[in-house]
Amino acid sequence: MQALSTANAELARRRAASVPRGVGCVHPVAIVRGSGARLWDAEGREYIDFVGGIGVINAGHAEPAIVAAIARQAEAFTHVSFQVASYEPYVALAEALNRLAPGPAAKKTLLLSTGAEATENAIKIARAYTGRPGVIAFQHGYHGRTLLALSMTGKNAPYKQNFGPFCSEIVHAPFPHELHGWSVERALEALDEIFAGSLAPERTAAIIIEPVLGEGGFVPVPPAFLRALRERCTREGIVLVCDEIQSGFGRTGGFFALERYGIEADLVTTAKSLAGGMPLAAVVGKAEIMDAPALGGLGGTYAGNPVACAAALATIELMDEAFFARAEAIGARVRGAFEELAARYPHDVAEVRGLGAMIGIEFASRETPVVPRIVERARERGVLLMPAGENNVIRTLVPLVIDDATLDEALRRIASAADDVLAPTATKE
Ligand SMILES: Cc1ncc(COP(=O)(O)O)c(C=O)c1O
Repeated sequence: MQALSTANAELARRRAASVPRGVGCVHPVAIVRGSGARLWDAEGREYIDFVGGIGVINAGHAEPAIVAAIARQAEAFTHVSFQVASYEPYVALAEALNRLAPGPAAKKTLLLSTGAEATENAIKIARAYTGRPGVIAFQHGYHGRTLLALSMTGKNAPYKQNFGPFCSEIVHAPFPHELHGWSVERALEALDEIFAGSLAPERTAAIIIEPVLGEGGFVPVPPAFLRALRERCTREGIVLVCDEIQSGFGRTGGFFALERYGIEADLVTTAKSLAGGMPLAAVVGKAEIMDAPALGGLGGTYAGNPVACAAALATIELMDEAFFARAEAIGARVRGAFEELAARYPHDVAEVRGLGAMIGIEFASRETPVVPRIVERARERGVLLMPAGENNVIRTLVPLVIDDATLDEALRRIASAADDVLAPTATKE
């Protein structure tokens, strides 16, 4: 009799046969259940989740208050479309986000379903407001996979490969990161060269930047650079868009990383952990700018779905000062564990960095990249990780409800996975 394949392998086989290969997959496991910071696969194996659905599960898997809010709203109604009739959860969420977005200016909020939609709509709004076409985005930045968002994304393979031509009038500037030779001064000079050479300020509608690079490797933007962008945008009438889709909603110890910078953006995009796993995104911005598009210019059938709005309102209730303090404490513990690794493998670890609980560890390049192997060894030990950057960074997006014992256990397993990969061949001077 033919041996039955395992449940994980069987789903992987069906996936390969039924879904295009272009949708990548880090872990060949079939998830059947989640709770808090843990996931279980179809074979009953338990994992400590350091990925959180790529930064979506800051409030924890199957968080009871969010599940109850979803159920209540689903029983009332699941959809009418906000372009057809109003419903309270959309308006209440807009009011909440207007209150929470950093800075004193009066705000308005547009709700959407995905991060890419949010970044695209931010640019549409900036263009409508300024009457200008140009956009400056950053190398290594990530803003989504739809065509305008992808055009702004600053990484070629695999996201942009074979998908051109891209939208015109988008120029990528270097992101300041000392480790790779881009000081704040050099990055600002490069920006000014773009203004002088390829995209004049008076043709620039928006500058879009992540306060902490997400896919690009968890690099916080130096405060001096963000301040300089704010000054240039104010001086030239350019809309400053801060993409907080990965850095927001608890990850960096507040609703928005911008709170740490003391800077008011003109528009902020948010998504991911905003709605505890439901597809929801938002553009929150200065009311005057948000009102620039004409009546009917914004929207989307599912945009601001009421079930997702109910989940977001419940998420906001959960995220109090204690929640944010916990994010800081988790970040400090993760950073400490990664710094120990850096001390053990000084020639293999290039940098430990991050903000709040958005911590990354970058490894020096080697002929065979070490991060995919560490990720695999960690999974074998029951921890799910995800790479970032050029597959040379491990990023941590652990649900912020994890307790210390579980966190420490996961960090021990990650260190042991790294030992497995690095110890036998640790690079020497
Ligand atoms: C900073 C940032 N912007 C935009 C996006 C795109 O979001 P989505 O995948 O929901 O379209 C992401 C997703 O990873 C992101 O991290």
